[in-house]
Amino acid sequence: RCDELLFSYKGILYPTTLCSPETFKALESFEARRDDVILAGYPKSGTNWLSQILTDLIAISQKKTPGSESSANAEEQEEFPYLEVGDAEKYERMSKLSSPRFMVTHLRPENLPISIFQNNAKILLLIRNPKDVATSFFHFSNRLATLPSYETWDDFFTNFMTKKMPWGCYFEYLSEWNKYAEKENIMTITYEEVKENPALSVKNIATFFGIPLTEEQLQLVLERSSFQSMKKNSDKTHGSFGNILFRKGGVSDWKNIFSEDQNEKMDKAFEEQIAGTKLGKKLKY
Ligand code: PPS
Repeated sequence: RCDELLFSYKGILYPTTLCSPETFKALESFEARRDDVILAGYPKSGTNWLSQILTDLIAISQKKTPGSESSANAEEQEEFPYLEVGDAEKYERMSKLSSPRFMVTHLRPENLPISIFQNNAKILLLIRNPKDVATSFFHFSNRLATLPSYETWDDFFTNFMTKKMPWGCYFEYLSEWNKYAEKENIMTITYEEVKENPALSVKNIATFFGIPLTEEQLQLVLERSSFQSMKKNSDKTHGSFGNILFRKGGVSDWKNIFSEDQNEKMDKAFEEQIAGTKLGKKLKY
């Protein structure tokens, strides 16, 4: 079943229902703009959460009130903001969109179109503790028909540690992005820090993208991006997918599922592969 649901492109697995080799080919010549707003994160790192924050900040930068009728510019944006998801013609459509365009990606930097780096588009890189990422990914995979399901958590854990995940291996993802972590057009943020201090995080993100924010606007962004309100509105924003996506929205749920042995295995992999790197030090591990 796994063979039908996933395909391999340049050595990395992707879901057949979302991605295709044709789209990846077309993506290579995508023309990024300097004022594109790009969110990058490994799956299950909180990309939908930060997407909510970023789209509201973009609305504010356009003098619109987030959530109001006038801010509904859905027809102006690509329907599904995940850069690598969709048909091969989406980049043609995106070339006609007005700035700033918003996009999200789970891709590693070497698989992104080169123009993103050549044109110095700003990237918000979102990282999350791998134990919580794995926990979230496991529950998600087993509830979503389009991803392979796993008979047991142990089975999933083995796959997670041996690189057989859609969008590839978490540790390799971080290692690759680590090569870009010093660049000034890339800001790294952790899921855990946004959770701990959302106001400061939103302010820092707004500053990075050059978006002035009043206290009132900040409060609105925070209100609309809380787990409770996103979950409550998910019918409208995400349809039936929302039920699967907005699961717990917290930190350390891994403690409910990892065995002692699995915990040690992951600690070892973390220590060997990323603990000493810039992103490894930034990660709340
Ligand atoms: S996906 O499918 O890869 O795009 O998933 P992604 O959005 O990256 O990550 C899903 C996890 O993010 C949690 N989430 C949130 N946490 C805190 N606050 C808010 N507002 C929020 N929105 C989504 C979501 O619940 C998933 O984590 P888990 O641990 O599974 O709950």
